Amino acid sequence: MQNNNNREEWGTRLGLVLALAGNAIGLGNFLRFPVQAAENGGGAFMIPYFISLLLLGIPLMWVELTIGRYGGNRGHGSMPGMFYSMWNNRWSKYIGILGIFTPLIIVIYYTYVESWTLAFSFFSITGKYFGAESRETMGAFLKGFQGIESNEYFSGLTPAIIFYLITLAINVYILSKGVSKGIERLANIAMPLLLIMAFALMVRVLTFGSPDPAHPENNIANGLGFIWNPDFSQLTNATVWLAASGQIFFTLSLGMGAIATYASYMRKDDDVATTGIATAGANEFAEVVLGGTIAIPAAVAFFGLVGVQEIAKGGAFDLGFQSLPVIFQKIPFGQFFGFIWFLLLFFAALTSSVALTQPAMAFLQEEFRIPKERAAIIVGLVLFVCSLPVVLFLKHGFLDELDYWAGTFGPVLCAFLETIIFVYIFGMAKGWEEINRGATTRIPRVFFYIIKYITPLFLFAILSTWLYQSAGDVLLMKNIDPANKSYVWGARIMMAVVFIGLAYLVRKSWRMKKRIENEE
Ligand code: PHE
Repeated sequence: MQNNNNREEWGTRLGLVLALAGNAIGLGNFLRFPVQAAENGGGAFMIPYFISLLLLGIPLMWVELTIGRYGGNRGHGSMPGMFYSMWNNRWSKYIGILGIFTPLIIVIYYTYVESWTLAFSFFSITGKYFGAESRETMGAFLKGFQGIESNEYFSGLTPAIIFYLITLAINVYILSKGVSKGIERLANIAMPLLLIMAFALMVRVLTFGSPDPAHPENNIANGLGFIWNPDFSQLTNATVWLAASGQIFFTLSLGMGAIATYASYMRKDDDVATTGIATAGANEFAEVVLGGTIAIPAAVAFFGLVGVQEIAKGGAFDLGFQSLPVIFQKIPFGQFFGFIWFLLLFFAALTSSVALTQPAMAFLQEEFRIPKERAAIIVGLVLFVCSLPVVLFLKHGFLDELDYWAGTFGPVLCAFLETIIFVYIFGMAKGWEEINRGATTRIPRVFFYIIKYITPLFLFAILSTWLYQSAGDVLLMKNIDPANKSYVWGARIMMAVVFIGLAYLVRKSWRMKKRIENEE
């Protein structure tokens, strides 16, 4: 379907909500969240988490949807054009580069991890890792697959590269079909399947009881209690706040342009208020109910509370690709449940990786009039080239460096700038009308003040805490292994090249537009 700008539109309302839910629900919900919660003391994490949801997550969801719909109706599906249509200043479009750059950097490594989930669902159903029955041997299996070491399980990176190419090809194919025939259709199939698989796993985990009679304290009730018993003493701990707000950004796909780009395919009077709540609600259900009930309680039941904290220190990959496969080998129909777990992760990741790539797609299509099939191939090639160092230098921290800047720091900066533009340049009075236009139920007035004062202050506090606590150490690579420093520099140079390249393209496209306008 086309609107007056000849832009694509979502086919149905349900399709829009499913696509946005698919955008938000991803590896963040099933892997990153459980690890963040476990690392930050479980119940201690959930209070800052819900406060961040209310003061950052939901307000920014509305703001980003509104910016996206506004820009989309003026012919722009990516942030440079969106900011430019809200703020007629030559700098606005350059700030908007963040909305293409950040998701593009994330998707470079996100798609690679996505390909592991596809590989591991295959290894589950074929029983390839069965026999690696301890966390140590399973760790060796994972390291072998990632090419970190050569061992009895894998002698090189070939399998990983094959699964990566398949995953990339699936992404490019879906993107080349466009918004309603590609992304929306995918969401219509993948989201219901995802829900069924997550339910099956949740029921399985909740019926584990206490699997080891010698350790009755290792049980599901204690696993659930670990996440859900609140611990108010942690409210003064800045690290927990940073982790909680960072998780809200990542899981809701905020501060990256991904939500705004999807919103740009809404019609002028489509309901932002309800869509925003539906998206955030679906994501939180998938995160705290489904994501919170599967990995951590299962790990507590089999490895105990101390074991879980140790696993959490090993990060999301340890939990998802190393510890859970050990559990699958101990339960009946483990091959099947392993398959379901990794397929669930694959669908969750796929509906997010297309969302991370669409801002770049929209940019090429609209600012350069490149047809979507060609744009998909161009972006696919760029992703492939940029992901090579991630694949080859995984153990040297290449992925971690990209994730730090694009997955943790960039979104907060982008959200801060976007809120300032929305509230203080576009104007909050106008913005509030724009948010509520087409809403069946207007948003409660208190959010007017939250968006105007509290959200920007909150973001400012996060940024200044970061500057004060860690900026120097991070920039000077204080905590980086000296052997890896040159690789980390490599990652930074790659990011700089991508950023400068985008800046060049933005400049070029605006010049082109001016010329066309003058000729007309
Ligand atoms: N929200 C996704 C997740 O939870 C990740 C993502 C971030 C997707 C930004 C799109 C944009 O995994």
